[in-house]
Amino acid sequence: MLLDGRRVKSCLLLAVTLDGREVRTVEGLSTAGDLSPLQAAFIAHDAFQCGYCTPGQLCSAQGMLAEVAGGWPSAVTADLTAPVELTDAEIRERMSGNLCRCAAYPNIVAAVREAAASG
Ligand code: FES
Repeated sequence: MLLDGRRVKSCLLLAVTLDGREVRTVEGLSTAGDLSPLQAAFIAHDAFQCGYCTPGQLCSAQGMLAEVAGGWPSAVTADLTAPVELTDAEIRERMSGNLCRCAAYPNIVAAVREAAASG
């Protein structure tokens, strides 16, 4: 989920400690019933199978794209002085904390890449 706009592991947070903070779950990614570009890209690229991991993948990807837009480097960012180029290696590294037992990883990378390109 996103906590004050940053991705966090919801299972490690005690709900009472979040009083007054902005909590955004996967349901909050859509606007007025319209899927977000990221959600639409996940469907277009079949970026899920059973769907168990999908809410976490979507929230993490949303937060990750904000990190990239903010210029945050990752462990595989080659040039720390240049704007981050969202390569497949960058996407894989930045999404490495989200596991998918169905191994939809190639399609998740493609979906994130498309969503990032669409703005
Ligand atoms: S789609 Fe099944 S665990 Fe990711």
